Amino acid sequence: MKAVVTGGAGFIGSHLVEELLAEQFEVHIIDNLISGKQKHVNPQAIFHLADISSEQIKPLIVDIRPDVVFHLAAQADVQRSIQNPGYDAIVNLVATIYLLEACRDAAVSKFIFASTSAVYGNLQKEQIVETDPTCPISYYGISKYSAESYIRVFHHLYGLPYTILRYGNVYGPRQTPKGEGGVVAVFMERIQKGTPLTIHGDGEQTRDFVYVKDVVRANVAAMKRGEQEIIHVSTANRTSINDLARLLTEFHGTDLPIIHSLAREGDIKHSCLDSRKGLEYLEWQARYEIREGLEETYRFYMNDV
Ligand SMILES: NC(=O)c1ccc[n+]([C@@H]2O[C@H](COP(=O)([O-])OP(=O)(O)OC[C@H]3O[C@@H](n4cnc5c(N)ncnc54)[C@H](O)[C@@H]3O)[C@@H](O)[C@H]2O)c1
Repeated sequence: MKAVVTGGAGFIGSHLVEELLAEQFEVHIIDNLISGKQKHVNPQAIFHLADISSEQIKPLIVDIRPDVVFHLAAQADVQRSIQNPGYDAIVNLVATIYLLEACRDAAVSKFIFASTSAVYGNLQKEQIVETDPTCPISYYGISKYSAESYIRVFHHLYGLPYTILRYGNVYGPRQTPKGEGGVVAVFMERIQKGTPLTIHGDGEQTRDFVYVKDVVRANVAAMKRGEQEIIHVSTANRTSINDLARLLTEFHGTDLPIIHSLAREGDIKHSCLDSRKGLEYLEWQARYEIREGLEETYRFYMNDV
């Protein structure tokens, strides 16, 4: 079996590549290394240094003729999407359209898309379900949601099979502080440098943190299941920023300096995604509790100084 992983040099993509190689796939990485790193390109994979928003992507995919395409390459920095919405739309939307055209022409049997809870915008609910209304409040959320709509219509018109996975806040080794949901990576960088952790507001804001290895398992499960479905990849648990700081202090063994700053404008208070659909449609559920995943992440960063 042949798989293409766009964004395979990035945080989540590089972990996915590792798992696919372990499962004996021929893996092709397509990445322009804009936020991904050469050192995360697995040497057992075939690496194509290419920009998904250039037209060259179509002949490349048709030439590879993959069975499955995992589309993770993205402009995943919410702030950057606000500063440069055109660039965000080109990478997250226009490039996805090029890929979809290529996948149709190459008769790809599954297109698996990395989407996000940002499509719900400020929706305040105890647990968001996949059928809740979408109302993005960033261009990043808009471009991801629009890409989802194109995927749906490519299936409708050409029968291209797909699964859309909407991730919660992903964390784990190799994450950089820039991307979506980067608070864990930001804290790790600060601990490495010995600088204080900054907590915005009272720190009681919560997120649904999902460990990268669980995200990889959800992607693998989507190869065979979840046809034409939108599915959360989440834990359905709320973890506050204060909880994160407490756990990290415990692993560190000594007090970590913490600075409190004003709450950031536009930050949502709570975000938690219901995860029952994943169990029903993918036979998948998160295995990592926050304590376990965070400790693995902490150990990785401490050995990586
Ligand atoms: N990290 C999270 O919490 C989170 C949450 C929800 C969704 N997602 C989605 O998961 C996916 C992976 O995110 P990540 O956190 O690993 O980010 P990342 O920035 O580490 O990975 C993205 C990869 O895409 C590559 N890329 C960007 N633009 C490209 C282009 N034009 N052509 C080719 N390659 C390009 C980058 O070099 C990088 O390797 C993204 O689609 C992101 O939107 C992430």
